[in-house]
Amino acid sequence: MKAVILVGGEGTRLRPLTYSTPKPMVPILNRPFLEHMLSYMKSHRIDDVILALCYLPDHIRDYFGDGGDFGVKLSYVVESSPLGTAGAVKNVAQHLDETFFVFNGDVFTDMNLSEMLETHRRKSAKATIALTPVDDPSMYGVVETDADGRVKRFVEKPRREEATTNMINAGTYILEPSLLEYIPSNENYMFERGLFPLLLERGEPFYSFSSQAYWIDIGTPEKYMKVNNDLLTGKIATDFPGSVHKKNVWAEEGHKIHPKANIDGPVVIGRDCFIEAHARVVGPSVIGPHCYIGAGSLVEKSIVWHNVAIGKDTKIRQCIIADAVNIGEGCDIAAGCIIGNNASIEDNALLSPETKIMPGTEISASHSSGC
Ligand code: GDD
Ligand code: MG
Repeated sequence: MKAVILVGGEGTRLRPLTYSTPKPMVPILNRPFLEHMLSYMKSHRIDDVILALCYLPDHIRDYFGDGGDFGVKLSYVVESSPLGTAGAVKNVAQHLDETFFVFNGDVFTDMNLSEMLETHRRKSAKATIALTPVDDPSMYGVVETDADGRVKRFVEKPRREEATTNMINAGTYILEPSLLEYIPSNENYMFERGLFPLLLERGEPFYSFSSQAYWIDIGTPEKYMKVNNDLLTGKIATDFPGSVHKKNVWAEEGHKIHPKANIDGPVVIGRDCFIEAHARVVGPSVIGPHCYIGAGSLVEKSIVWHNVAIGKDTKIRQCIIADAVNIGEGCDIAAGCIIGNNASIEDNALLSPETKIMPGTEISASHSSGC
């Protein structure tokens, strides 16, 4: 079965992480988000995948190649400027000659795609959209349906008081190739504001598939932290990388954890990590591969990416630290800080809550900075 994954967005709400790492490559339990997504799709027999790229395409292409290592066939189509969600699908139309799925490339879910396909076929739909309930629908596409599941109205990001239901567009569609004719070529055009309202106007058979499964859009720091925490605490089933180091602590090969270090799970530790004596890692936390945590330091409820060095007696709480960041000794990095790739934090620096540090920035002890 074929699918298009929309992975062209700039991930603006995840900045500064996404200045140098595209959203699909943001790690979840030390694997790029897209790797989790491909394995989920494969479990529903979707194995021929076209990636519609625009922003930082090489990061994705270099990692996934032809898809062979991940058990799927991957093709890449790069837009020279963003074509919008539907325009991006039109742009790969040459690959689409049978019923196909479309996925927003930033949704973590375990909804049943096989059942969704059955619903699409049973209703003889030309388009089927997956729906999920959320608390605040105003950040999403709100979808009204009739008793038979037929879509009656689609409103993208309505004001809170205008949302008539909490069932929203879950970012997964099944489409018949004949619908591609409605989408203009080489033009920025969106499903949400263009094609879906048009299908309703034309009376095309446009149906919904409602699911109560786990569902989250990882596109903000809070949601990105939440999906990691939900996996670590078992709210959604997953295979943990590496082997069990102790209860609720999983570590990949090559790690050196000092017997006097204190790891308080749930924690995942990447390969070749070095954790010194009296360092504490408190879960839910993820430590990426090749990280160093100095003696007496604390990393609590945080996500640390690849190749991060943390000096001794430093405290990091509820933070996201991107690749190759250097943090000195005696620092205090307060809750909600996000530190971009290759940033460097000098000894004894204090960062106030919610500080965001741009990639490559050097922060001195007397200074706390934002972006
Ligand atoms: N190739 C390509 N080109 N991809 C794009 C483009 C583009 O021009 N614009 C956005 N995308 C991709 C993004 O990378 C992302 O994977 C997906 O399309 C959705 O874009 P977001 O920017 O994340 O949209 P959103 O989260 O605000 O809203 C969308 O998703 C919600 C569910 O999470 C909408 O589809 C809502 O209706 C929906 O409820
Ligand atoms: Mg999104």
